[in-house]
Amino acid sequence: MCGIVGYLGNNKASEVILSGLEKLEYRGYDSCGICFFDVAQEAFVTYKDIGRVFHLVNDFNYQYENHLAIGHTRWATHGKPNQLNSHPHFSQNKRFAIVHNGVIENYRELTKKYLPEVHFISETDTEVIVNMIELFVKDMTVEEAIRKTLSLIEGSYALLVIDTHHPECLYAAKNKSPLLIGTGKNGITLASDIMALVGYADQYMPIGDKTFTVCKKDDYGHYIFEIYDIIGLPIHGDFLRMDLILDEIGKAGYSHYMLKEICEQPSVIRNIMEKYLSYDKFTINPEILHLLKSCDRIYILAAGTSMHAGLVGKYLFENIAKIPCEVNIASEFAYNSLLLTKNPVFIFISQSGETADLRACLVKVRELGYKTLTITNVLTSTLAREADYYLEIFAGPEIAVASTKAYVGQIVLLAILSYCLSENKPFDLKLELSKIAVAMEAIIENRDVIHTLVKERIVKRNCFYIGRGLDYYTCLEAALKLKEISYIQTEGFAAGELKHGTIALIEEGVPVIGIISQHAINNSTRANIREVMARGANKIIISLNRVSDPSDEIILMNIEEMLSPILTVVPTQLIAFFAALELGKDIDKPRNLAKSVTVE
Ligand code: AGP
Repeated sequence: MCGIVGYLGNNKASEVILSGLEKLEYRGYDSCGICFFDVAQEAFVTYKDIGRVFHLVNDFNYQYENHLAIGHTRWATHGKPNQLNSHPHFSQNKRFAIVHNGVIENYRELTKKYLPEVHFISETDTEVIVNMIELFVKDMTVEEAIRKTLSLIEGSYALLVIDTHHPECLYAAKNKSPLLIGTGKNGITLASDIMALVGYADQYMPIGDKTFTVCKKDDYGHYIFEIYDIIGLPIHGDFLRMDLILDEIGKAGYSHYMLKEICEQPSVIRNIMEKYLSYDKFTINPEILHLLKSCDRIYILAAGTSMHAGLVGKYLFENIAKIPCEVNIASEFAYNSLLLTKNPVFIFISQSGETADLRACLVKVRELGYKTLTITNVLTSTLAREADYYLEIFAGPEIAVASTKAYVGQIVLLAILSYCLSENKPFDLKLELSKIAVAMEAIIENRDVIHTLVKERIVKRNCFYIGRGLDYYTCLEAALKLKEISYIQTEGFAAGELKHGTIALIEEGVPVIGIISQHAINNSTRANIREVMARGANKIIISLNRVSDPSDEIILMNIEEMLSPILTVVPTQLIAFFAALELGKDIDKPRNLAKSVTVE
């Protein structure tokens, strides 16, 4: 959940790191730090503290000349966020500095066995790694000492190490946590995420698990790198061209990434259509279609917002493709002894493609010998690489911690997939998706109406979303979004369940937002809304025009009912955004969260 970045080259390394940390901050923002080799003093200089990267950027002394540096932005796992626990960490004699993303599971055992004399400064597991390197280097080369350490540590890590004795070398290692290497004419950059490479690399390569990398300057002054596997054999990989440009990862004039990403959703739909349309017909890799057609049940595994997209996916697979499907929360999957069908296929849905809970499931499912498909927004991600097949969402980089456009993209892709699998096409998908994009534009253009509604009725202590069928899934997602960024306690309920307990929470003035997009549930959801209004609730109804009542607050253009979650979620995203704005919350970086949850 942390972000790491390292650089060796002709550029001023500290600038590459600070710019990289700004781009990686969405991965974790409890604290951050940088360590670089100062050419004049011939020593490492470190800045690190609790707080955001902009503090680091403001406090930094830019006079230093440096060409080697490492940096870190943290989401605390071991030890609370404070200056001492911030990375980089150092070995006891200050020879080595390290930044680390991941969790070392056996750090207590290692401490006891190898480092009983070491006085640790922080509460982190990371300090153990760097002290083991310093211990082993007494009898071997740095490379050997790092490799020996790697052979002993268990868990997940992407780490970067620098050594005062070799100020022109940058060492890296990876297992389970993401790490990319990028090269450009001015040097080598290593980072957790492609975004930190933008502007400094022309090409990049995801580094594989259980590998060790050394970056250095050769005798001709060129910056080179070597990657080795666990036993020290060289590994060669294929580089990919850097397609991402700085504009794509900026705010493009919007006040917040989240608002930008909400507003991008119509073009996300059009982009996905373009990617999957061939001669006006939706096309998916025939091997994937064959796999899904021949399975007897699809098991979707996902977390958070992606799990909500999975619930809609279940509806689409069962109603359009006629394939039975069930959805499991990834973190629960390991504990539910599921009675699997004879011929299942597993679909992993993940914006980041790095969610640790999903990765654990993927490993387990593959061990059981079942086929896997990952649906992700990040082509280079671990889940994309490790599944048998993957499908890309093409939503573009999503930077706000609250997922919006990736959710819409996931459902659009699930609709395309279900549609390609169906024998009898129930509607013209291309036409219907185009209509949704237009209907979304109307909501986005008139977003001031939602802002006013939020100011007047929603900024309260708590809030409820209620709906039935597909609308219930949107309620779950809407509630997650509102609580995630505004901290208003919000729950999404199946409207019919209210009277079985939850209605006890309804009191004077509580906002209850009803979602109604389907004809079949219109009357019953409205009856439930009347029940809460009779107990003092302040209702807001989001409905599609054809099932609307003139008194409904947000009426959306008519679209295909089966695809309604793609549209009905948009006003709820805006409700969350404006509520957080009114409450003065940090919308793009809500407290306690991080964009990719890379710890289980
Ligand atoms: C969404 O707003 C959340 N930040 C979160 O629930 C997210 O969807 C979840 O952590 C799963 O992430 P993934 O899609 O990258 O796997």
